[in-house]
Amino acid sequence: MANQDEFFKKVVAHAKEYGFIFPSSEIYDGLAAVYDYGQLGVELKNNIKQYWWKAMVQMHENIVGLDSAIFMHPRIWKASGHVDAFNDPLIDNKDSKKRYRADVLIEDHIAKIEEKIEKEVEKAHKRFGESFDRQQFVTTNQRVLEHQQKIDAIRARFAECMNANDLEGLKQMIIDLEIVCPISGTRNWTDVRQFNLMFATKMGSVIDDSDTLYLRPETAQGIFVNFLNVQKSGRMKVPFGIAQIGKAFRNEIVARQFIFRMREFEQMEMQFFVRPGTELEWFKHWKEERMQWHQALGIPAECYRFHDHEKLAHYANAATDIEFRFPFGFKELEGIHSRTDFDLSRHSEFSGKKLQYFDPELNESYTPYVIETSIGVDRMFLAVFSHALKEETIEDGSTRTVLSLPTRLAPYKAAVLPLVKKDGLPEKAREIQHLLMPEMMVQYDEKDAIGRRYRRQDAIGTPFCITVDNDTLSDNAVTVRHRDTMQQERVSIDNLNQYIKSRI
Ligand code: GAP
Repeated sequence: MANQDEFFKKVVAHAKEYGFIFPSSEIYDGLAAVYDYGQLGVELKNNIKQYWWKAMVQMHENIVGLDSAIFMHPRIWKASGHVDAFNDPLIDNKDSKKRYRADVLIEDHIAKIEEKIEKEVEKAHKRFGESFDRQQFVTTNQRVLEHQQKIDAIRARFAECMNANDLEGLKQMIIDLEIVCPISGTRNWTDVRQFNLMFATKMGSVIDDSDTLYLRPETAQGIFVNFLNVQKSGRMKVPFGIAQIGKAFRNEIVARQFIFRMREFEQMEMQFFVRPGTELEWFKHWKEERMQWHQALGIPAECYRFHDHEKLAHYANAATDIEFRFPFGFKELEGIHSRTDFDLSRHSEFSGKKLQYFDPELNESYTPYVIETSIGVDRMFLAVFSHALKEETIEDGSTRTVLSLPTRLAPYKAAVLPLVKKDGLPEKAREIQHLLMPEMMVQYDEKDAIGRRYRRQDAIGTPFCITVDNDTLSDNAVTVRHRDTMQQERVSIDNLNQYIKSRI
């Protein structure tokens, strides 16, 4: 765990040092859980969004895009259930005056016991070496079994409290588990109460309850309320989807782990409208398709797993998370939900407008069922960024920091580097830069020794370094150095554009 913490600190520091992510309002000491994307961060973020948009919209003739407003009619959030039920259980420590999510305190307690199991496993691994069988060890070792029993009992009680919305039960668990405030070290807790996560604001000049607006906590509702507009104007036939990328806002009680849980973040959501009765087939389809999308980036399959929900929201009849192995363990990256006809029916009821589809093949009208795929752009950023960051010892014994981003997501695809700052090499390098610029993001760098320039490009994830040397002037070719293998090959300038594009 200590190593994981250390590594995570490196991820945050690297993101800042190289212009990927800055704390928001930093010169005013920052604003909790709000971040700004710097010059390289915005490129990586845009590439992630483009990768998603292409896969979802461009590659599906029955999925179209939407860009709905952040402000929406306040009754939308009543209809969707967010006003009454988009809550987290909150608890304060009376001594430190710090606020916590009661469920997170309990989950952290479980994680500590899990750490103890991991320590036992590590110790045993060292003892038994190559012949160590993890599965056998965790199912037979007495200490591990005792820890596991504790975890199972806590989880069972925890699930009962959460399902029954039993706030007193949650507080009793915190007391019984002897959970202390990490700041004050005391167990002086308030009662647990519900806390709504939506940010409210006012519209117009009259201060009145009816003017209260909410910053949307998800982009999905903008899609539901435009269902008929898009279906009719686009002459869409069920099954079809509407995709949207946009900002969402949640007043998270405990916002932490960098950009994993933010108060202002961005979502990429797609609602897929299907015939009632076919939704579970489509759920299975989207589960597989979304996992393929992740794995097509070349990040190993073992970094992902499904976590099927046992407890379903009242409107869902199936739900799963795609979890990713973040530096702090497996956590939700994307949610895939079968949301039945709940949202369209509720908006029909609250707006008085019939949100139905006439199916010409069945010759009947119905309220379509919905499969939703929902992923946070920032969380996806953290997944690819943290997975890519590596410190390597290379052949000559020195170390290098390399950001092995998937090539298609890298902020800069190429850097053009004249070997020396004379003999006409900078001019030739500028020519190559301008040749590539209309096709891809490309950097020019002539400062410092070539080795240091390679290191700088490695650290920001540039997959191809193009070195212009004296031979270039006579053979019209350059040396292309590959970021991950550090291998070099000679490529004709005439083929350079094609050479790089075919590898992105
Ligand atoms: N429309 C469904 C929905 O919003 P969700 O599980 O609450 O479902 C979907 O959120 C995704 O949005 C999550 O899987 C995560 O990637 C991202 N997300 C949610 N809350 C976030 C936060 N506070 N900060 C960053 N990303 C968040």
